[in-house]
Amino acid sequence: MDTIVVDSLTREFDGTRAVDQISFTVEAGEIFGFLGPNGAGKSTTIRMLTGQLRPTSGSAQVAGCDIVSQRDQMKPQIGVVFDCQNIYERMTARDNLRFAARLYRVNGQRVDEALELVGLTDSAKKRTKTFSNGMRQRLVIARALLHQPKVLFLDEPTRGLDPHIARDIRSLIVQLAEQGMTIFLTTHYMEEADQLCRRVAFLDRGRIVALDTPAGHKAAHQSTYGGEAPTLEDLFVKLTGSYLRGGERM
Ligand SMILES: Nc1ncnc2c1ncn2[C@@H]1O[C@H](COP(=O)(O)OP(=O)(O)OP(=O)(O)O)[C@@H](O)[C@H]1O
Ligand SMILES: [Mg+2]
Repeated sequence: MDTIVVDSLTREFDGTRAVDQISFTVEAGEIFGFLGPNGAGKSTTIRMLTGQLRPTSGSAQVAGCDIVSQRDQMKPQIGVVFDCQNIYERMTARDNLRFAARLYRVNGQRVDEALELVGLTDSAKKRTKTFSNGMRQRLVIARALLHQPKVLFLDEPTRGLDPHIARDIRSLIVQLAEQGMTIFLTTHYMEEADQLCRRVAFLDRGRIVALDTPAGHKAAHQSTYGGEAPTLEDLFVKLTGSYLRGGERM
């Protein structure tokens, strides 16, 4: 069953296409990687799929709901984590979540469950201004999980985190997918995508230029790498961003 269905989704800003007729599907319980250079259109896609930004054209369904006409039904079924989300510095971790739970009318019991899930139980009573970046990110993820969404959108969830914390967050992502959650992930860490994602799409200037399993991507290009399988990073560099280096779009 497909949890995300995207059909010719397009978004223009001032006549320029940031997202250009992309189409793909994501299965329930799949970790789907959405990779591309800075400015490729990843966050814009997430903002459309989470009902924060209207598409210029095209359509999409998330958890069975049209992202435009059924936005209000869709919202309770999705969670989203952006890199720069606010937390209240003067509040404790638990109070931050209690506040969010009241706002979203979620059962308060979920607060401690969510803290436990992200490993913040021991820090629940600490003010978040004392938190490291890794703890903040875990708290933001906990907040996105309060209402037990079916689909979780993660926009660069491990950006700027040390390898210990990044690994913890990756384990959490795998754990959530194993419980049946569908995960839409953007990252600039190719090894992370290789390790976590069942399938990976490469986005270049708003267009999907390749979509396959990591192994499928590598196999498709093996012959051009002297028979040795390239890494996802090799393929990222090959398939995307030629315009950044002064070349033509493929
Ligand atoms: N609100 C906006 N107004 C005008 N242009 C925008 C707006 N939001 C995004 N863009 C443009 O759309 C393009 C895609 O941006 P987007 O943020 O989706 O890229 P991204 O793939 O998430 O990049 P990054 O890896 O840097 O996060 C960029 O050219 C950006 O400047
Ligand atoms: Mg972005």
